[in-house]
Amino acid sequence: MTATAPKPAADAVSWLPNGFRFGAATASYQVEGAVREDGRGESIWDRFSHKPGAVVGGDTGDVACDHYHRWADDLDLMVELGLESYRFSIAWPRVQPDGRGPLNSRGVAFYRRLAEGLLERGIEPVATLYHWDLPQARQEVGGWAVRDTALRFAEYAAHMAAELGDVVQGWITHNEPWVVAFLGHAHGRKAPGIKDWPTALAVSHNLLLSHGLAVDALRAAVKAPVGITLNLNPMRGDEPAAVAMMDAHQNRWFLDPVLRGTYPVEMLEHYERVFGPLPVLNPEDMDVISRPIDFLGVNYYNPTYVRTSTEAPLGVSTVVPRGATTAMGWPVDASGLQDMLLRLRADYGDLEIWITENGAAFDDERLVDGVVEDPSRVAYLKTHLEALRASVQAGVNVQRYHAWSLLDNFEWEHGYDKRFGIVRVDYDTQERTPKRSALWYRDHIAATRKGG
Ligand code: NOJ
Repeated sequence: MTATAPKPAADAVSWLPNGFRFGAATASYQVEGAVREDGRGESIWDRFSHKPGAVVGGDTGDVACDHYHRWADDLDLMVELGLESYRFSIAWPRVQPDGRGPLNSRGVAFYRRLAEGLLERGIEPVATLYHWDLPQARQEVGGWAVRDTALRFAEYAAHMAAELGDVVQGWITHNEPWVVAFLGHAHGRKAPGIKDWPTALAVSHNLLLSHGLAVDALRAAVKAPVGITLNLNPMRGDEPAAVAMMDAHQNRWFLDPVLRGTYPVEMLEHYERVFGPLPVLNPEDMDVISRPIDFLGVNYYNPTYVRTSTEAPLGVSTVVPRGATTAMGWPVDASGLQDMLLRLRADYGDLEIWITENGAAFDDERLVDGVVEDPSRVAYLKTHLEALRASVQAGVNVQRYHAWSLLDNFEWEHGYDKRFGIVRVDYDTQERTPKRSALWYRDHIAATRKGG
């Protein structure tokens, strides 16, 4: 029998769509730690983070938030905050150490415990299959630059559907494939640290193909909704050509194939002009890539401002506008969320949308009378949840909101220096302290449920 978390009560006076859930998100390498335990294999992020100079302060995910051992307490914390949905990711090398061949039953058992623990607490488990921790063994044979990795990913997806299909209530194939392809393989800032644009283009195609194949594999075995999460930034600036170019490169390069079955033609031409003949982006794959999905996952953080630049490889570069920014240097602007949601509906039709991440890192946290005061994060969440409400009231079909992140965690090449959590983590003691933003979010969820 399939276990399900109870649906939150629908409230006649609330603006909330029926079945809507508020939650929080994390990702395996950023929180779990225990990287050598219970048969877990090495991932490209283990390898990358241990490379001198790759991560600020030489930080690694070896211990992270020790969530692998503290998961039950973390789930209890979610209950205290009134969370209704939890988006986590499955570390491929934990469940299939080499990225092919036999499963590691102890690794699979961890995610079963986690998902069952969520269901017992009335929280919906949403699993992301790939949040950037490719088994290193797959990288050794070409990683995402080779088509075979897409086929292996589909097998892994089928295994997870068979093992966890009765407890996971939402499936996300990939998290932010643009970041994997371009920050990992063109700019080299993230694992595997490659700097080669044609490789990045091949990677983006194989990621898309692997998404479509995984959708098929999941559909064959589960009834739960299946989607993909993209990082989407509304592009802004005074030069329409530069804005359109960056939009095609960053947003449409993944949106169009998944939702329309085509790459943006002008982008194909532009890449070819700049980098020479393209790697094979096999048109026969487009049918698989554009398999219908049940929801589009949107990670929204900020709008991006762009201008023409003769130095940038694509002829456009980003600029930081005047005004408030987060500790990452990202503009704080909730209007971008609404712009993006309305634009998705206008350009791609009435698809169901899950906000799979939204949040901010700030440095202005201080402990006052036992509470971590983080006023900037409270303001950020408040304005973005207002933008969400306005978008829903304007008719956009949004069904989930996941704050990024439940916990402070390993922020990739920035290490532990940047804190995105609504719950503070003391990395010396692993003590968790809900920040004001967590308490505010808890109250917001409760008030909204009451019709506020
Ligand atoms: C998006 C990524 O999915 C997540 O892993 C990361 O920590 C946040 N953005 C913040 O940068």
